[in-house]
Amino acid sequence: MLAYSGGLDTSVLIKWLQEKYTAEVITVTVNVGQQENLKTVEEKAKNLGASKHYSIDAKAEFATDYIFPAIKANALYEGKYPISTSLSRPLIVAKMVEIAEKESATSLAHGCTGKGNDQVRFDVTIGSLAPDLKIIAPVREWDMTRDEEKKYAKVKGIPVSTAAEKYSIDQNIWGRSIECGVLEDANQEPPEDAFEWTVSPEEASDTPEYITIKFEAGVPVALDKESMAPLALIETLNKTAGKHGVGRIDHIEDRLIGIKSREVYECPAATVLLEAHKDLEKMVLTRHEVLFKQQIDSQWTFLAYTGLWMDPLKEDLEAFINQTQEKVHGKVRVKLYKGGLQVVGRSSPMSLYDQNLVNYNIKTTFNQSCSKGFIELWGLQTRMQNMLKRKAKKQETTKVGE
Ligand code: ARG
Repeated sequence: MLAYSGGLDTSVLIKWLQEKYTAEVITVTVNVGQQENLKTVEEKAKNLGASKHYSIDAKAEFATDYIFPAIKANALYEGKYPISTSLSRPLIVAKMVEIAEKESATSLAHGCTGKGNDQVRFDVTIGSLAPDLKIIAPVREWDMTRDEEKKYAKVKGIPVSTAAEKYSIDQNIWGRSIECGVLEDANQEPPEDAFEWTVSPEEASDTPEYITIKFEAGVPVALDKESMAPLALIETLNKTAGKHGVGRIDHIEDRLIGIKSREVYECPAATVLLEAHKDLEKMVLTRHEVLFKQQIDSQWTFLAYTGLWMDPLKEDLEAFINQTQEKVHGKVRVKLYKGGLQVVGRSSPMSLYDQNLVNYNIKTTFNQSCSKGFIELWGLQTRMQNMLKRKAKKQETTKVGE
C-alpha cells in the first residue's frame, strides 16, 4: 500500500514497486487540503498500474483533532513555523493503517527522502500503530538523482508536471510548504511565483481590514459574529488573510536529522489564529501560567515536529494545556494590512486585566504604599550580592596599592 500524492516521486514509486517487488500496489490519497483534483490523482494511479485506489477526505478531522490542539499549544516551531506539514503526517498514517488492515496489506510504502523530517514522522507513527507492517521507503534507498528520476519517468510513460520541476510543494489547510529550486539560495528573496495563497504586500489592498475572532475553551468558534465549524473557519481565514498578503514565512529551520534548511511557507490562517490565541491567553491566564506554559508549548511543538505524535508525553502535556484552556474565552480583534497583522483589541469575561488597577488618575484598589516593601524584599539577594562584589573589588585595589 502506497501513500500516493500524484507527484513525481510517488508516481515513479507505483512502477518501481511493481517491478522491484513484483507487488500488487494499492494507492491511498488522504485529503488534508492539498487542493489537487482527486479524480485526476486516482486516474493517474490506475493508469500507472495501481490495482485499487482509496481517496479519503480527512479535512474536517484534520482541523478538529490535529490543528485545534496545535492552536491550544501555540505551536510555532523555532518561533516561526506553524508545523503545517508535520501535523498532517500522523493523520495520513492513521488512515492508511486502517485501510491496510482492511486490505490485509503486508507493507506500507511512502515517498520520503532520507534527508527530511517526514520519513521520521511516517516511520515512527507506522511503527507505533502497526508494528507488523513492513515499511518501504524507496526514495531513501535508490540512488537516482532527480534528473535520473525524470528520465525513468519518461521511459515508463509517467507524466512530469512543470510545477514539479520548479519547487517541491506540500500543502494542506494549515499551510503551504515550498522548497527546492532557487529557494535553496538562502540569501535570495523568494520569487513571486513561489506563492499561491498570498498576494505580495505591495499588491495588497491599501485599505486595512478588521476581523474579530471569537474563542471558546482555547479554540476559534466564530469569525465576525458568524459561528463556523473548524474547517470552514480555517478555509475562510486563509482567503481573508491571504488577500492582505499575511502569512508569508521565510526562515532557517533545524531539521531533526541535523540539516539546516531554508524554508518558505504560506500560512495565512495559522499566522492570524496563533497570534490571536496567544494574545487572549495573556489576558486570562496568570503570569505564572503564561510563563510556564511557554515551556510546555515548545515541548509539545517539538514532539509534533520531530515525529513523536504518538509519544505519551504529548498526551501528558495536553492534560496541562487543556486545563489552562478552560479559561480561554473571548474575542480578539485583528487588523490585516499589507502583509502585516496586528492584534488591536481583545475582551474576555475571564479577563485578569483591570483598567481600574492600571489607571493613574482615579483612586484605585491597588495599594501603592505596599510597593515600597515589596521592592525591598524582591531585590534583597540582588543587593546583597552586589555589595559583596563591591567589597571584593575594593580589597583588590588596596592590595595593588600596597
Ligand atoms: N520543513 C517542513 C517540515 O518538516 C516542511 C516539509 C515540506 N515537505 C515537502 N515535501 N516540501 O515539516
